[in-house]
Amino acid sequence: MTLINDHYQKLQAGYLFPEIGRRVSAFQQENPDAAVIKLGIGDVTLPLAPAITEALHAAVDETGEAAYGYGPENGYPFLKEAIAQHDYASRGVEIALDEIFVSDGSKQDSGNVQEIFDIGSTLCVTDPSYPVYVDTNVMAGRTGGASASGHYEGIVYLPATEANAFMPGPPEERVDLAYLCSPNNPTGAVATRENLSQWVEWARRNEATILFDAAYDAFIQDASLPHSIFEIEGAAECAIEMRSFSKRAGFTGTRCAYMAIPKTVMGRSASGEAVSLNTLWSRRHSTKFNEVPYIIQKAAAAVFSPEGAAQTGEQVAYYMENARRIRQGLGDAGFAVFGGEHAPYIWMRTPGDLSSWDFFDQLLQRSHVVGTPGSGFGPAGEGFFRISAFNSHENVDEAIERISKGFGS
Ligand code: MLT
Repeated sequence: MTLINDHYQKLQAGYLFPEIGRRVSAFQQENPDAAVIKLGIGDVTLPLAPAITEALHAAVDETGEAAYGYGPENGYPFLKEAIAQHDYASRGVEIALDEIFVSDGSKQDSGNVQEIFDIGSTLCVTDPSYPVYVDTNVMAGRTGGASASGHYEGIVYLPATEANAFMPGPPEERVDLAYLCSPNNPTGAVATRENLSQWVEWARRNEATILFDAAYDAFIQDASLPHSIFEIEGAAECAIEMRSFSKRAGFTGTRCAYMAIPKTVMGRSASGEAVSLNTLWSRRHSTKFNEVPYIIQKAAAAVFSPEGAAQTGEQVAYYMENARRIRQGLGDAGFAVFGGEHAPYIWMRTPGDLSSWDFFDQLLQRSHVVGTPGSGFGPAGEGFFRISAFNSHENVDEAIERISKGFGS
């Protein structure tokens, strides 16, 4: 038989969200009449905004009138221009079109980006963190096995706790790669300018690279908070940024995202020569990926039109009203709740010292509500639980009532 990639054997469990889906399906099969409310995976529940579906229809018509074969490998200029203008120039950040790489998702980007770094690179993650960062490095063979506590050998874990407002600073030791996410999945915390400046200063001093995941930036409510790491001086020398249309505009099923890699971010070859990460990613992207379809890029560009921006802004506001209701409702019921002010996720302590998975199971069985166990995001997530704001106001109100009745103090 053919030898497999043995690093996969180190993975401790199946991927988090399919495991949740499996448990929910089993419950629903046994309890077909239970009205289950899903506040688990952060998947949008509102339809695509009219400005986006109009752009999709128009683009479909265009593809019936002329051939749209392979497009430009890193994305169409019309989309990259809109990104450069609205996501960057409007915030005083200069990003050139050849520094933008359009892709089919931030999950893919955040999982694939590690390929351009040496297998011996060291890395740190905040704990808890989006599981893709850790799992893809395990699969690549960049770590040892997991300890009984769930920590993989070779990864520096930075606990995100109430004491550091769930936004830990850089490690004391040097590491090559630092995964950072703000607004944060899963804790819902947000990085301030001071937080990011500390990281950028550390990365420059240590010649490290920050992999910054800004998939949730549209949920930031306070205009003084940074949406992009490139708003921080010096970041264009040490950071790569990942952004997505998934949550900001309902593209979880439509798929469009991008990475911004300034040409000034350098790595080093084994022989000591400085190499541009932009060039490396461009090589990787053009070899392993054929562009996001023309019609989808047209739809993504419509997010930046005045109508698209207004309509998707209303959708974000709708979800943030849910986040407010969840924070308030669970807080009133005596739970310790965090996040949810600049992110669509509320991070709560499990009641009565229940483990994250025990609370998941009890909540499903007794209240018919689905959330996400904090321990699925890393060992420091044990004893916490994530509630997503992606659902209707009615379902959120009903879920809060059920949780409060079943588990509140
Ligand atoms: C989540 O619920 O953490 C996210 O929706 C997962 C993802 O975006 O891949």
